[in-house]
Amino acid sequence: MTWSETEQDKILGFVRKHDSKPTQLLQILRDVQEEFHCVPTDARENIANELKIPRTQVQEVIEFYSLLSLEQQGRFHILLSDSITDQMMGSRKLMDYFSAKLGVEPGQTRADGRVSLGFTSCTGLCDQGPAGLVNGHWLSRLNGDRIDSIAELVERDVPVENWPEEFFKIEDNIQYPGLLLENPIEVGAALRQAVRNGFDEIFEEINRSGLRGRGGAGFETAWKWRYCAEGPEDLNGLPIAGQHERYVICNADEGEPGTFKDRILLNSHAHQVFEGMTVCAGVVGAKQGFLYLRGEYLHLRPQLEAVLADRRRKNLLGDSILGRQGFDFDIEIYMGAGAYVCGEESALIESLEGKRGIPRIRPPYPVVSGYLGKPTVVNNVETFACVAAIALYGGAWFATHGTEKSKGSKIISVSGNCERPGIYEYDFGVTIAEILLDCGAENTLAVQVGGPSGSIISGREYHRQLAFEDLATGGSFMVFDKSCDILDIVRNFTHFFAHESCGFCTPCRVGTTLLKNEVDKICEGHSAALDLVGMASLARFIKTTSHCGLGQSAANPVLSTLSHFPDAYKARLKDVSFEPGFDLDESLETARRMSARDDAMAHLEQEGI
Ligand SMILES: Cc1cc2nc3c(=O)[nH]c(=O)nc-3n(C[C@H](O)[C@H](O)[C@H](O)COP(=O)(O)O)c2cc1C
Ligand code: SF4
Repeated sequence: MTWSETEQDKILGFVRKHDSKPTQLLQILRDVQEEFHCVPTDARENIANELKIPRTQVQEVIEFYSLLSLEQQGRFHILLSDSITDQMMGSRKLMDYFSAKLGVEPGQTRADGRVSLGFTSCTGLCDQGPAGLVNGHWLSRLNGDRIDSIAELVERDVPVENWPEEFFKIEDNIQYPGLLLENPIEVGAALRQAVRNGFDEIFEEINRSGLRGRGGAGFETAWKWRYCAEGPEDLNGLPIAGQHERYVICNADEGEPGTFKDRILLNSHAHQVFEGMTVCAGVVGAKQGFLYLRGEYLHLRPQLEAVLADRRRKNLLGDSILGRQGFDFDIEIYMGAGAYVCGEESALIESLEGKRGIPRIRPPYPVVSGYLGKPTVVNNVETFACVAAIALYGGAWFATHGTEKSKGSKIISVSGNCERPGIYEYDFGVTIAEILLDCGAENTLAVQVGGPSGSIISGREYHRQLAFEDLATGGSFMVFDKSCDILDIVRNFTHFFAHESCGFCTPCRVGTTLLKNEVDKICEGHSAALDLVGMASLARFIKTTSHCGLGQSAANPVLSTLSHFPDAYKARLKDVSFEPGFDLDESLETARRMSARDDAMAHLEQEGI
């Protein structure tokens, strides 16, 4: 591409639209990608010069995020979800059909530059798949007929904005509402209560409620806020003078395959989520908040911006909120660009600062040193929705639901082999068996609770409960019936982790690829018993030595299925009684003869399974 002045002006326009701030690099690159279908060399040069950052920084950020590219993509860039539930609904066959229809291989751009095809990790539409994206916008319920129509629209060069609305239609699909979804708050009601009663009182309500984060780890929300409000301390444990800046971040990255409950909260309860963030700002003393929205949820952005504008009009955001002097707070939407690791809170903050999403070394935790080194609260979308409800209805109301250590309810995203996939909300303590009954699952082989990083459980454990003290989950609940092969599921998950590893630390970068290769080898029937021993030991090594939660959980699918479904592995082995060609004990025979020993200590036992 020859770079004209017009193109250069466009780049400058994008940079200025984002106030020429290096922290906005990712947003600028997203705009450039949308305009040019890649980030061309000259654009990288222009951006680096304007932001006064090295060109290599621009380049490494592009290479990090899967929705950005150095190479030219098609004007219609189509991605199909490669999540296991989409695969179960036939996404691989649909890709072959798409590819033949459009005359382009997956991972390639057609010679005329019109269309490119590829796979992507989960799109957050597991209940309405097979799903995909076209130029970043959701495509739901794909089938042969729909693909025929899409191919025709592409060949006729019809802009995506003019495609039939039903291609993009997404339903909330709420099957079983509970505590939160049945009691949505009136716009502004929680904030009015907070302003009336004071933020100290609201903090006490949050504390009383026992609320724990809904993003998966279950850290106590009140504790997190207290640390952030207190801010950094000097060596004597005293607050450092002049350090007043605080930030509130809503984690809407929702990248765990099988999780789509935040999509519903943002689609239909965005006021409540923003209200929860604003309550948090009042408690910790923050002036600025961010909603970090996963790149694949681009479709939600215009309506979320409209909700924010509405809240500013109603004085629920902005200066002197609800007339309270000094209560100033606003929220900005920041788009991700396709990196699962950016859901990890410190990686998310790096991304928000315009960098690659490499998880930070912790401590210090974000509540002490977060966005731009300032105390920062990061909470999940659902956590903020709970906060608003607690601020209005009180901590005691919330705490009467759930179990002793897990108060309130949990919204879960049900997908896979069941009659009624969708959104279910239960008080904590519900059993797996109850959920399976409600969603119409039969002949169930296994349930994946918490997505690939969670646990795969078998029929013997359906009495177990969703609760932090038993089965913790960020919200994914995938059902697999007896027609599924457990190893296909493990294979999909290990490929996912190898693809999503950020590459920062060796155990995860190298380990997840080796693990993926081991699983492939087993699935292809080339492994022997000893390979399982090696694989289990590699899995434990990755789990215990990786730097962040991604690596620490990447081996969970292998480890949990090795213990719950050993027969599935044994059935694929080449020869269960296979012994290695090299017998270490036999090779020591000469040494034994020379030293005239044949006692037990002079022999080696080889590890078997
Ligand atoms: C690889 C990885 C991905 C994560 N993805 C998300 C996510 O998409 N949404 C989320 O809220 N938390 C995610 N988390 C957890 C966050 O790091 C963090 O604990 C959470 O946002 C805190 O909010 P909470 O206390 O309200 O749960 C992820 C963690 C890891 C290690
Ligand atoms: S564990 Fe994996 S994702 Fe986490 S820092 Fe290491 S390489 Fe990156």
